Amino acid sequence: MFSFDVNACDKVSLYDDLTAAVDAITAGEPDAIANMANVAALIWEYVPDLNWAGFYRLAGDELVLGPFQGKAACIRIPLGKGVCGTAAAERATQLVADVHAFPGHIACDAASASEIVVPLLADGRLIGVLDLDSPVPGRFDTEDQSGLERIATLLAPRLLA
Ligand code: SME
Repeated sequence: MFSFDVNACDKVSLYDDLTAAVDAITAGEPDAIANMANVAALIWEYVPDLNWAGFYRLAGDELVLGPFQGKAACIRIPLGKGVCGTAAAERATQLVADVHAFPGHIACDAASASEIVVPLLADGRLIGVLDLDSPVPGRFDTEDQSGLERIATLLAPRLLA
């Protein structure tokens, strides 16, 4: 059993502690699926107000559903489509306060109101994206963005096998 001490009282501490937990649980483990599964579980457990958290992996010229927590989701997303495909194509985080205002947003769960998608880059290569959805409008801010980007930078090189 793993046990982590994550302080969810303020966002900076939350992401400091979550990054340390991600580091501890993925260190020395080469299997990408195992690492994505554990990180999706950590985010789901410790980041409040989510209805989906997980990964899409780059496979050829599309994104394919990876390990996640939440409702069953759409399996394949073309690059450039939806929030995930846009983050992948532009290799840039998409911070979306209102998913209904995002052109081409793909609704996997009708409860989703806001979303953040962070690209996973290692050795200059796109590995996939980390996607968090929330039922709360405007749930994610720049503190979430920098915390999740820190996690993505740490994790992406551990997703190569
Ligand atoms: N909303 C995403 C699709 C993935 S689900 O949120 C899990 C998008 O527009 O790309």
